Amino acid sequence: MRSRGRGPGRARTREDRGHVADRGPNVFAEYAAKYGLTPPGEEAVTDDPPYGDRWTTWDDSTAGQRGPRPYPDWVVTELGAVDTELGILKTGKEADVFLVERSVPETGKATVMAAKRYRDPKHRMFHRDDGYREGRRDRESRVNRAMAKGSAFGREAIAGQWAHAEFAALTSLWTAGVAVPYPVQILGTELLMEFIGADGVAAPRLAQLRPDADELHDLWEQLAHNLSVLALAGYAHGDLSAYNLLVQDGRLVVIDVPQIVDVVGNPHGREFLDRDVRNVGGWFTARGLDPDRVQQLSDALASDARLS
Ligand SMILES: Nc1ncnc2c1ncn2[C@@H]1O[C@H](COP(=O)(O)OP(=O)(O)OP(=O)(O)O)[C@@H](O)[C@H]1O
Ligand SMILES: [Mg+2]
Repeated sequence: MRSRGRGPGRARTREDRGHVADRGPNVFAEYAAKYGLTPPGEEAVTDDPPYGDRWTTWDDSTAGQRGPRPYPDWVVTELGAVDTELGILKTGKEADVFLVERSVPETGKATVMAAKRYRDPKHRMFHRDDGYREGRRDRESRVNRAMAKGSAFGREAIAGQWAHAEFAALTSLWTAGVAVPYPVQILGTELLMEFIGADGVAAPRLAQLRPDADELHDLWEQLAHNLSVLALAGYAHGDLSAYNLLVQDGRLVVIDVPQIVDVVGNPHGREFLDRDVRNVGGWFTARGLDPDRVQQLSDALASDARLS
């Protein structure tokens, strides 16, 4: 047995420094920190996709958070798919729209979608929450209180409500036959939808076009048809303009629909229909459309929505 003397040069004993096993579980963390090791049980689980930015979020959405069936054949539903962000399409007033590719590593099947990510209201450039949020209040009072207090959680809840509102609107309109982007899925504040464009370039907004007389006439007819389908289903767009219409190879597509208005039984239903037609009609008449057509469309929509 070693001497227990206290003289210099004495060998340090287990009792002096405390044996590893006696110092409790933190000793591994101490050693790990000292020698740059990973403590047992804390090894990083590397579950990153082989490329891209994240695994597909398809299976994180529940059945009700996915687009209407049958899913179009371009929708990637494979669980082993990978999402890659290709760039930003546009920063808007209340949301940013990104281009996202979803692809299957094994087969190479790939599809490009538009990802509209709603910003929390603090980071928006204008606010349309107060009026529109009436009647959409989340039943959960914790969410209500958080939204009223403006906490980070509350702000995210509001952004999520807008994203859900737009997903629900796209689903109704797509099902009714309005030309809108197919809604792929909603998850939190991110809405994934059909990308309207080609080769990663978004289709131009109507406002950017300089159509000749025939094209103008054709675009007006498409607009009238789409608004009629909307009105027959009981809705007005609520924020229609030459900026919320895309034109891909001559086909008019209605976008930006979180605020669609249920005009049936709404005392201001007719005003909403008229305002939409007036706003976009101004763009058409400035390019040569007969102004009578604008009034005729307003009347036709009121009749479609059974408001006259
Ligand atoms: N499905 C889509 N396919 C292609 N481009 C899209 C799509 N959705 C949105 N974009 C592009 O992003 C822009 C903004 O989209 P949207 O109007 O829905 O958002 P917003 O936040 O209301 O923007 P803004 O404030 O500019 O109106 C559109 O003008 C269009 O250029
Ligand atoms: Mg818009």
